[in-house]
Amino acid sequence: MNKNTIAIDGPAASGKTTVGRMLAAELNYLLLDTGIMYRAVALAASQQQIALDDEAAVTALAHAIQLEITAPTEEDGRLYSVFLDGNDVTWDLRTDVVNRSVSLVASYREVRAEMVARQRIIGAAGGVVMVGRDIGTVVMPSAPLKIYLTASAEERAQRRYDEKVKRGDTADYETMLADIIRRDQFDSTREHSPLLPAADAVQIDSTAQTPTEIVAAIRALLA
Ligand code: CDP
Repeated sequence: MNKNTIAIDGPAASGKTTVGRMLAAELNYLLLDTGIMYRAVALAASQQQIALDDEAAVTALAHAIQLEITAPTEEDGRLYSVFLDGNDVTWDLRTDVVNRSVSLVASYREVRAEMVARQRIIGAAGGVVMVGRDIGTVVMPSAPLKIYLTASAEERAQRRYDEKVKRGDTADYETMLADIIRRDQFDSTREHSPLLPAADAVQIDSTAQTPTEIVAAIRALLA
Protein backbone atom coordinates (compact mmCIF):
# COMPACT_ATOMS: atom_id res chain seq x y z
CA MET A 1 0.00 0.00 0.00
CA ASN A 2 2.81 2.40 0.81
CA LYS A 3 4.92 1.64 -2.23
CA ASN A 4 6.29 4.80 -3.85
CA THR A 5 5.47 6.85 -0.80
CA ILE A 6 7.88 9.39 0.59
CA ALA A 7 7.10 10.54 4.11
CA ILE A 8 8.49 13.92 5.18
CA ASP A 9 8.01 14.96 8.79
CA GLY A 10 9.46 17.73 10.88
CA PRO A 11 8.72 20.79 13.00
CA ALA A 12 6.95 23.96 11.87
CA ALA A 13 8.37 25.71 8.82
CA SER A 14 11.28 23.31 8.42
CA GLY A 15 10.91 23.45 4.65
CA LYS A 16 8.86 20.26 4.34
CA THR A 17 6.36 21.67 1.88
CA THR A 18 8.91 23.44 -0.34
CA VAL A 19 11.09 20.35 -0.53
CA GLY A 20 8.06 18.07 -0.89
CA ARG A 21 6.66 20.12 -3.75
CA MET A 22 9.97 20.10 -5.66
CA LEU A 23 10.42 16.39 -5.09
CA ALA A 24 6.86 15.60 -6.15
CA ALA A 25 7.28 17.66 -9.34
CA GLU A 26 10.55 15.91 -10.25
CA LEU A 27 9.17 12.42 -9.60
CA ASN A 28 5.72 13.20 -10.98
CA TYR A 29 4.19 12.29 -7.62
CA LEU A 30 1.26 13.87 -5.83
CA LEU A 31 2.09 16.19 -2.93
CA LEU A 32 -0.14 15.99 0.14
CA ASP A 33 0.54 18.61 2.80
CA THR A 34 -1.40 17.10 5.72
CA GLY A 35 -1.05 20.23 7.88
CA ILE A 36 -3.70 21.95 5.80
CA MET A 37 -6.27 19.42 6.96
CA TYR A 38 -5.74 20.31 10.64
CA ARG A 39 -5.60 23.98 9.71
CA ALA A 40 -8.96 23.60 7.93
CA VAL A 41 -10.56 22.14 11.07
CA ALA A 42 -9.17 25.05 13.12
CA LEU A 43 -10.44 27.58 10.58
CA ALA A 44 -13.89 25.99 10.42
CA ALA A 45 -14.11 26.09 14.24
CA SER A 46 -13.22 29.77 14.23
CA GLN A 47 -15.71 30.57 11.44
CA GLN A 48 -18.52 28.70 13.21
CA GLN A 49 -17.56 30.09 16.62
CA ILE A 50 -17.04 26.67 18.11
CA ALA A 51 -15.01 26.79 21.32
CA LEU A 52 -11.62 25.19 20.70
CA ASP A 53 -11.64 23.38 24.01
CA ASP A 54 -14.98 21.72 23.18
CA GLU A 55 -13.42 18.50 21.96
CA ALA A 56 -16.73 16.84 21.07
CA ALA A 57 -17.87 19.78 18.94
CA VAL A 58 -14.50 20.13 17.21
CA THR A 59 -14.50 16.38 16.54
CA ALA A 60 -17.99 16.54 15.01
CA LEU A 61 -16.77 19.36 12.81
CA ALA A 62 -13.75 17.34 11.67
CA HIS A 63 -16.07 14.57 10.54
CA ALA A 64 -18.44 16.98 8.80
CA ILE A 65 -16.22 19.33 6.82
CA GLN A 66 -15.77 18.84 3.13
CA LEU A 67 -12.23 19.45 1.98
CA GLU A 68 -10.94 19.64 -1.54
CA ILE A 69 -7.30 20.16 -2.45
CA THR A 70 -6.59 21.01 -6.08
CA ALA A 71 -3.86 22.38 -8.32
CA PRO A 72 -3.54 26.19 -7.90
CA THR A 73 -6.64 28.03 -9.16
CA GLU A 74 -5.01 31.49 -8.82
CA GLU A 75 -1.57 32.72 -9.69
CA ASP A 76 -0.81 34.37 -6.35
CA GLY A 77 2.11 32.29 -5.17
CA ARG A 78 0.03 29.43 -3.78
CA LEU A 79 1.30 25.86 -4.17
CA TYR A 80 -2.22 24.40 -4.28
CA SER A 81 -5.77 25.56 -3.66
CA VAL A 82 -7.80 24.44 -0.68
CA PHE A 83 -11.61 24.55 -0.63
CA LEU A 84 -13.43 24.21 2.67
CA ASP A 85 -17.11 23.39 2.12
CA GLY A 86 -16.77 24.84 -1.37
CA ASN A 87 -15.02 28.10 -0.42
CA ASP A 88 -11.44 28.96 -1.35
CA VAL A 89 -9.64 29.25 2.00
CA THR A 90 -6.06 28.74 0.78
CA TRP A 91 -4.64 31.86 2.43
CA ASP A 92 -7.09 31.90 5.36
CA LEU A 93 -5.35 28.74 6.56
CA ARG A 94 -2.16 30.77 7.18
CA THR A 95 -3.55 33.49 9.43
CA ASP A 96 -2.44 34.07 13.02
CA VAL A 97 -5.83 32.89 14.31
CA VAL A 98 -5.26 29.51 12.70
CA ASN A 99 -1.57 29.39 13.70
CA ARG A 100 -2.64 29.91 17.31
CA SER A 101 -5.41 27.30 17.35
CA VAL A 102 -4.28 24.51 15.03
CA SER A 103 -2.11 22.56 17.46
CA LEU A 104 -4.86 22.20 20.04
CA VAL A 105 -7.31 20.98 17.42
CA ALA A 106 -4.68 18.57 16.06
CA SER A 107 -4.11 17.10 19.52
CA TYR A 108 -7.63 15.60 19.69
CA ARG A 109 -7.56 11.84 19.13
CA GLU A 110 -10.73 11.61 17.04
CA VAL A 111 -9.82 14.61 14.92
CA ARG A 112 -6.55 12.85 14.10
CA ALA A 113 -8.29 9.56 13.37
CA GLU A 114 -10.57 11.26 10.86
CA MET A 115 -7.76 13.13 9.10
CA VAL A 116 -5.43 10.12 9.08
CA ALA A 117 -8.20 8.06 7.43
CA ARG A 118 -8.58 10.73 4.75
CA GLN A 119 -4.79 10.88 4.26
CA ARG A 120 -4.53 7.12 3.85
CA ILE A 121 -7.23 7.13 1.17
CA ILE A 122 -5.31 9.78 -0.78
CA GLY A 123 -2.02 7.91 -0.27
CA ALA A 124 -3.36 4.44 -1.04
CA ALA A 125 -2.53 4.51 -4.73
CA GLY A 126 1.14 5.35 -4.07
CA GLY A 127 3.14 7.91 -6.02
CA VAL A 128 2.79 10.44 -3.22
CA VAL A 129 5.01 12.70 -1.18
CA MET A 130 3.20 13.15 2.13
CA VAL A 131 4.27 15.93 4.46
CA GLY A 132 3.37 16.32 8.15
CA ARG A 133 4.28 15.40 11.73
CA ASP A 134 3.27 11.74 12.00
CA ILE A 135 3.50 10.42 8.45
CA GLY A 136 6.45 8.10 9.05
CA THR A 137 5.26 7.04 12.49
CA VAL A 138 1.48 6.68 12.09
CA VAL A 139 -0.03 7.51 8.69
CA MET A 140 2.36 5.61 6.40
CA PRO A 141 4.62 3.57 8.73
CA SER A 142 5.68 1.23 5.92
CA ALA A 143 6.72 4.03 3.57
CA PRO A 144 10.02 2.95 2.01
CA LEU A 145 11.61 6.37 2.48
CA LYS A 146 11.11 8.59 5.52
CA ILE A 147 12.74 11.95 5.94
CA TYR A 148 12.81 14.06 9.11
CA LEU A 149 13.62 17.64 8.23
CA THR A 150 14.83 20.09 10.84
CA ALA A 151 16.33 23.59 11.02
CA SER A 152 16.99 26.03 13.83
CA ALA A 153 13.90 27.83 15.15
CA GLU A 154 15.39 31.21 14.17
CA GLU A 155 15.99 30.09 10.60
CA ARG A 156 12.47 28.68 10.37
CA ALA A 157 10.90 31.88 11.74
CA GLN A 158 12.94 33.94 9.30
CA ARG A 159 11.69 31.84 6.37
CA ARG A 160 8.05 32.29 7.42
CA TYR A 161 8.62 36.01 7.93
CA ASP A 162 10.17 36.37 4.46
CA GLU A 163 7.29 34.44 2.87
CA LYS A 164 4.69 36.73 4.45
CA VAL A 165 6.51 39.93 3.59
CA LYS A 166 6.94 38.74 0.00
CA ARG A 167 3.18 38.28 -0.24
CA GLY A 168 2.73 41.86 0.91
CA ASP A 169 1.39 40.91 4.36
CA THR A 170 2.50 42.56 7.56
CA ALA A 171 4.57 40.29 9.75
CA ASP A 172 6.39 40.43 13.04
CA TYR A 173 9.46 38.21 13.33
CA GLU A 174 9.30 37.85 17.12
CA THR A 175 5.64 36.80 17.03
CA MET A 176 6.39 34.21 14.37
CA LEU A 177 9.39 32.85 16.28
CA ALA A 178 7.31 32.58 19.46
CA ASP A 179 4.52 30.78 17.56
CA ILE A 180 6.94 28.27 16.06
CA ILE A 181 8.59 27.49 19.40
CA ARG A 182 5.21 27.15 21.11
CA ARG A 183 3.79 24.86 18.42
CA ASP A 184 6.89 22.64 18.34
CA GLN A 185 6.74 22.23 22.09
CA PHE A 186 3.01 21.44 22.02
CA ASP A 187 3.26 19.07 19.03
CA SER A 188 6.23 17.19 20.51
CA THR A 189 4.67 16.60 23.91
CA ARG A 190 1.04 15.82 23.01
CA GLU A 191 -0.37 12.43 23.95
CA HIS A 192 -1.54 11.25 20.52
CA SER A 193 0.96 10.94 17.66
CA PRO A 194 3.51 13.44 18.93
CA LEU A 195 6.01 14.99 16.53
CA LEU A 196 8.84 12.47 16.49
CA PRO A 197 11.24 11.04 13.92
CA ALA A 198 10.42 7.46 12.94
CA ALA A 199 13.16 5.04 14.03
CA ASP A 200 14.08 4.46 10.39
CA ALA A 201 13.82 8.11 9.25
CA VAL A 202 16.78 9.86 7.65
CA GLN A 203 17.33 13.15 9.49
CA ILE A 204 18.33 16.17 7.42
CA ASP A 205 19.19 19.58 8.89
CA SER A 206 18.12 22.21 6.38
CA THR A 207 19.52 25.24 8.24
CA ALA A 208 22.43 25.80 5.90
CA GLN A 209 21.13 23.99 2.82
CA THR A 210 19.02 25.20 -0.07
CA PRO A 211 15.87 23.29 -1.02
CA THR A 212 17.62 22.20 -4.24
CA GLU A 213 20.46 20.64 -2.22
CA ILE A 214 18.02 18.84 0.05
CA VAL A 215 16.01 17.49 -2.88
CA ALA A 216 19.24 16.20 -4.42
CA ALA A 217 20.17 14.51 -1.13
CA ILE A 218 16.75 12.83 -0.95
CA ARG A 219 16.94 11.71 -4.56
CA ALA A 220 20.32 10.17 -3.85
CA LEU A 221 18.64 8.09 -1.13
CA LEU A 222 16.12 6.85 -3.69
CA ALA A 223 18.75 5.78 -6.21
O1 CDP B 1 3.47 24.68 7.77
P1 CDP B 1 3.77 24.53 9.23
O2 CDP B 1 4.97 23.67 9.43
O3 CDP B 1 3.81 25.80 9.99
O4 CDP B 1 2.57 23.76 9.88
P2 CDP B 1 1.61 22.69 9.21
O5 CDP B 1 2.42 21.58 8.61
O6 CDP B 1 0.62 23.38 8.34
O7 CDP B 1 0.88 22.09 10.50
C1 CDP B 1 0.12 22.90 11.36
C2 CDP B 1 -0.14 22.15 12.65
O8 CDP B 1 -0.95 21.00 12.36
C3 CDP B 1 1.09 21.58 13.35
O9 CDP B 1 1.68 22.52 14.23
C4 CDP B 1 0.51 20.37 14.09
O10 CDP B 1 -0.08 20.77 15.30
C5 CDP B 1 -0.59 19.90 13.17
N1 CDP B 1 -0.23 18.76 12.31
C6 CDP B 1 -0.29 17.50 12.86
O11 CDP B 1 -0.56 17.36 14.04
N2 CDP B 1 -0.05 16.39 12.09
C7 CDP B 1 0.26 16.53 10.79
N3 CDP B 1 0.47 15.42 10.07
C8 CDP B 1 0.36 17.80 10.21
C9 CDP B 1 0.11 18.91 11.00
